[in-house]
Amino acid sequence: MWYCRTATLLASACLVGALSANALWPHPTNYTAGKDDTFVRISSDLSFQLVDGTDQSRVPDDLTQAITDSAKLANTIDVWELTPDRGESHRDGVGKAALIASVQIKVLELMPETTPNLCVEPSKSVGTVENSMLQLRALQQPFQGRGDAIDDPLQNRQSENEEYIAVEDNRSNVWSNACSISSRAIKQLSYNVSSKPLNLETDKSAPSDLGNLDAEMYRLSVPSDGASIQLTSYTSIGALRGLQTLMQLIYALPPLQGGKVQSQHYISNVPITIEDRPGYPYRGLMLDTARNWFDLATIRKLIDSMSFVKLNQLHWHGTDTQSWPLAFNKDGSDPDLSVLAETGSYGWYQSENGTVEKMVYTEEDVEYIVGYAAERGINVIIETDMPAHMLSGVEAIDGGSLMACPEQLDWITVAAEPPSGQLRIVSNSTESDTTDINTFKIPDAIVKLVSAILRKTSSLSKSLYVSSGGDEPNFHCWNLSSEAAMEPYLRPFMELVTNVTAAAGKRGLVWEEMAVKFPTVAKTLAKGSLVEIWNDPNNSAIALKNNPDINIVLAPYTYSYLDCGGSNFLGNYTGNNWCPYVSWQQAYSFDPSAVIANATAVLAKDEKLVRQSFVGGEMAVWTEQIDRTNLDSRVWPRAAAGAEIWWTGETVGGKKRDKVEALSRILDLRWRLVARGVGAEPLQPQWCATRPGGCNMH
Ligand SMILES: *[C@@H]1O[C@H](CO)[C@@H](O)[C@H](O)[C@H]1NC(C)=O
Ligand SMILES: *[C@@H]1O[C@H](CO)[C@@H](O)[C@H](O)[C@H]1NC(C)=O
Ligand SMILES: *[C@@H]1O[C@H](CO)[C@@H](O)[C@H](O)[C@H]1NC(C)=O
Ligand SMILES: *[C@@H]1O[C@H](CO)[C@@H](O)[C@H](O)[C@H]1NC(C)=O
Ligand SMILES: *[C@@H]1O[C@H](CO)[C@@H](O)[C@H](O)[C@H]1NC(C)=O
Ligand SMILES: *[C@@H]1O[C@H](CO)[C@@H](O)[C@H](O)[C@H]1NC(C)=O
Ligand SMILES: *[C@@H]1O[C@H](CO)[C@@H](O)[C@H](O)[C@H]1NC(C)=O
Ligand SMILES: *[C@@H]1O[C@H](CO)[C@@H](O)[C@H](O)[C@H]1NC(C)=O
Ligand SMILES: *[C@@H]1O[C@H](CO)[C@@H](O)[C@H](O)[C@H]1NC(C)=O
Ligand SMILES: *[C@@H]1O[C@H](CO)[C@@H](O)[C@H](O)[C@H]1NC(C)=O
Repeated sequence: MWYCRTATLLASACLVGALSANALWPHPTNYTAGKDDTFVRISSDLSFQLVDGTDQSRVPDDLTQAITDSAKLANTIDVWELTPDRGESHRDGVGKAALIASVQIKVLELMPETTPNLCVEPSKSVGTVENSMLQLRALQQPFQGRGDAIDDPLQNRQSENEEYIAVEDNRSNVWSNACSISSRAIKQLSYNVSSKPLNLETDKSAPSDLGNLDAEMYRLSVPSDGASIQLTSYTSIGALRGLQTLMQLIYALPPLQGGKVQSQHYISNVPITIEDRPGYPYRGLMLDTARNWFDLATIRKLIDSMSFVKLNQLHWHGTDTQSWPLAFNKDGSDPDLSVLAETGSYGWYQSENGTVEKMVYTEEDVEYIVGYAAERGINVIIETDMPAHMLSGVEAIDGGSLMACPEQLDWITVAAEPPSGQLRIVSNSTESDTTDINTFKIPDAIVKLVSAILRKTSSLSKSLYVSSGGDEPNFHCWNLSSEAAMEPYLRPFMELVTNVTAAAGKRGLVWEEMAVKFPTVAKTLAKGSLVEIWNDPNNSAIALKNNPDINIVLAPYTYSYLDCGGSNFLGNYTGNNWCPYVSWQQAYSFDPSAVIANATAVLAKDEKLVRQSFVGGEMAVWTEQIDRTNLDSRVWPRAAAGAEIWWTGETVGGKKRDKVEALSRILDLRWRLVARGVGAEPLQPQWCATRPGGCNMH
């Protein structure tokens, strides 16, 4: 910004392709702004409206809700500037600035100009009495002013576990309306683009063949003359992304003295025009709910923060050896899957309101999380890890006969961590020796269990993707002599998983072991299924060599594992955790283009083609040492590094992504997260945080 101030001749250069002078995270693709001492005041009753002419019958409930939520946040959260004077020096300038009273939102899919109406699927009947009732309810209620918002949802978030039932009532039409945020959130990952060139400034309608990433595009303009803020997108999900950006533009002048004083909101550097779209379709966060359990309020809060930084995939590592919290109904399936959580969950805890509850996720809870996330533009991929990382719950089925090496004292030879356990696919026990590969068949009881679990998780998730895990299979546990010796047994296992997944209408997500270590196993993976690389990111090339039809999700632990660092959890081992701490700078320095270059060279293919196989990446939260008490600080703001890598891509404001430039923006993001009630950890002493560059090394 300094160069804009010191060199007026360069002023125009500052406007084009410049870095955001506003602290936006992730940084928008295209951003132009005015001078940094030009402001607009924002009304303390800023109203948010879909533009006149919007076909109200197309408006999905989740968009209405997102607009209402944004209006509440914009009008109730006072974030003053992260500077020593808290923005006090701007008081005069802001006082003289024009006042903006409204945000006009135009979603082209919802305009009558978009014909045919893409919001109703042609096969679905419309216009029934029931439907028109739902449509009436979808009519937008404008924000009723700051007074009504005192009941701040964010302040109550931890204790109001009941609220979600009410929210559920509000999304009556989200899955039947193809224009809902939810319907978009669960679509297949792809880089396809519309056949028509797109221009959000001039387009009057949305094309019917809108690409996956184009759907998330938006255009946001904040004028300097007091006219309305304009937000335009093709879809509801695009509008949601734009609303999140707008939330990050608004600051408040500090109250003149202590106490609860209403603050004047403003936006600086106006006029601002932002045109933004994501770089990658998969921008994820993985949460492990098996090592430690998380209540729904905590998961909701995580989802809210993910949405705030435009992350769009929640990879839910649901089960592991330590616990099985997925409480499936007793529904006559064989085997009875309700046994899994009944015997494998952590049991009881005392919730904040004093009632004693089980540490499980009922089928209703799972569907609730799936729905809550989808409304916020996030797809949930449920993982039940197998054949390794299985014990709790599973050992209660068929009298324990499905488990190999369960809870072995000498776990270290048979498992990655205690307690040990792995599906007994291979067994050389005298009663049932299945080691002869010529006659090998997966034991029937295991076929039944695996099929029943995958059918269940498939039916509970709206996502096209469902995960069978697949990390760290251990050959000692199967009494085999080498890692390679597992391959002929793993191949039919993976084939079974692929078959069941396809029969349920889904695609798989597996950890890299299934595609990198075992080439014949890799070949059983379905076209378009996802392989998550967690070791050397260049293993991607090996996976793609083994099966060119798969897609890659990058989560190399050296850059992506937020649990790394600190102490070890083993009882009498005094060393540190197995992997070093991933600082936000380390996470941020990950460069997918080097990995894509490696794969391009190894596969000797066109770089553009290879790039299509890399759908994105994610930060992972393994929770051996994380529960609801420290989740916020272990995840935020570091997970946001991933959000910018996968949304903004390799360049930020026309320059290669740079952690020094990013510092003041991520500090600001952290500041905003804290204001929203998220316990994001500090990255610097406040002295440094309020003085950009002030604590650099010289
Ligand atoms: C962003 O700017 C670049 C270069 O000026 C241009 O090619 C691109 O079309 C713009 N993208 C959007 C989404 O406006
Ligand atoms: C208390 O909280 C639990 C867990 O969040 C919830 O299931 C239960 O319905 C609540 N009970 C009351 C009386 O609020
Ligand atoms: C959501 O539902 C609640 C309770 O039914 C209701 O008070 C609220 O007005 C609804 N919100 C919207 C945006 O429809
Ligand atoms: C792009 O892919 C999505 C998801 O597969 C699909 O719904 C859409 O029709 C495709 N669009 C184009 C232009 O191919
Ligand atoms: C492995 O061999 C040992 C010793 O014979 C036996 O006790 C154990 O049950 C075997 N494990 C499996 C999974 O077959
Ligand atoms: C099973 O395999 C283990 C390890 O290879 C071996 O020690 C044991 O004798 C085998 N048991 C049988 C019954 O074959
Ligand atoms: C998977 O499906 C294929 C094709 O239908 C079939 O040939 C194969 O036997 C199945 N494999 C398993 C393990 O179910
Ligand atoms: C931990 O305790 C076990 C059992 O007493 C012992 O065999 C092992 O050597 C101990 N390990 C360390 C690192 O102290
Ligand atoms: C991956 O390959 C790229 C390109 O060949 C190389 O620059 C990079 O160092 C490799 N990464 C690792 C972790 O080996
Ligand atoms: C790709 O990465 C692997 C593993 O880091 C490395 O050994 C290999 O040299 C790289 N290949 C190319 C062509 O960069």
